[in-house]
Amino acid sequence: MNGKKLAGEKAADFVEDGMTVGLGTGSTVYFTIKKIGERIQNGLCITGIPTSEATKELAAACHIPMVALNDADHIDLTIDGADEIDPGLNGIKGGGGALLFEKLVAKASGRNIWVADESKLVKKLGAFPLPVEVIPFGYKMVMKELERKGLQSTLRLKDGRPYETDSKHYILDIKAGNAGDIQALGAWLDSISGIVEHGLFLGIADMAVIGHEQHVSILKKEPLC
Ligand code: A5P
Repeated sequence: MNGKKLAGEKAADFVEDGMTVGLGTGSTVYFTIKKIGERIQNGLCITGIPTSEATKELAAACHIPMVALNDADHIDLTIDGADEIDPGLNGIKGGGGALLFEKLVAKASGRNIWVADESKLVKKLGAFPLPVEVIPFGYKMVMKELERKGLQSTLRLKDGRPYETDSKHYILDIKAGNAGDIQALGAWLDSISGIVEHGLFLGIADMAVIGHEQHVSILKKEPLC
């Protein structure tokens, strides 16, 4: 937990007065949102864009002024958690089920910072089940299509019923460890009818703030030559 707290709180330092800030979802960015709330009590003036109902509630409790994505004309910076991060700052997200709103906000954002503890760093993406958000109608057809591609998936459940996202979609968790070319997998998933979004966030993060037991480290995306 210490690594999450250190990373989450450190990332709040990158928030500047006047910014519109995408607020991610999860137990690490929780600490960022709390810290931003403290800074607001001390005069910081920002507008937040929440990526889930849970984050909206938390940000409201922290007195962070918010607008909906549809009412924002730009987003300066988004801070969010991740489930896996590779050395190129590609990641898997959606363990908490908020991947659709998270990706929409991240793609609209001028800059993206991820916060995570060191356990999220991997050499290669795919050990963590890859979340794929699907419409309930025909989700079994999507599962069969995935299977034909050699991808086993599991319908995410909560209390014995299909887990529902904030958009009332279902989530399939895919074993993607042996999927090979992750860029190609992302493009293929984008092409399947019934899939609303997937948790491969490739080339989106600019920086990751990683929390260790006693310190944080900063990873930055390599500039393209
Ligand atoms: C939410 O859907 C996810 O993308 C989270 O951002 C991700 O699961 C990281 O969550 P934690 O910070 O709780 O590990």
